[in-house]
Amino acid sequence: TYVVTESCIKCKYTDCVDVCPVDCFREGPNFLVIDPDECIDCTLCVPECPVEAIFAEDDVPEDQRDFIALNAELAKVWKPIIEKKAPPADADEWAKVKNKRGMLER
Ligand code: SF4
Ligand code: F3S
Repeated sequence: TYVVTESCIKCKYTDCVDVCPVDCFREGPNFLVIDPDECIDCTLCVPECPVEAIFAEDDVPEDQRDFIALNAELAKVWKPIIEKKAPPADADEWAKVKNKRGMLER
């Protein structure tokens, strides 16, 4: 499966959503996750993300490994998002911020 990591938080550009052939993105207030039960490992979403938030499970960086379980957990409670929408007005500012995991809203 593929996994959304920290850099998506408060950026939520949603370019990834438009290319997913199986609509497996789920949307929270300021972050998206991938439902690991639905992802077919097509890789199409990876190059679409402007902040390089998406990794294959095996390639998730060491300091982001907790996002694997977090994607699975939140995918169970968040609703599907199937179309790209406008990012938050301050998304480009947050794109430069590295440590944002404390900002994740559920
Ligand atoms: Fe969707 Fe493919 Fe990305 Fe999985 S790898 S989330 S199936 S676009
Ligand atoms: Fe997030 Fe990147 Fe998609 S910022 S919403 S994973 S395009």
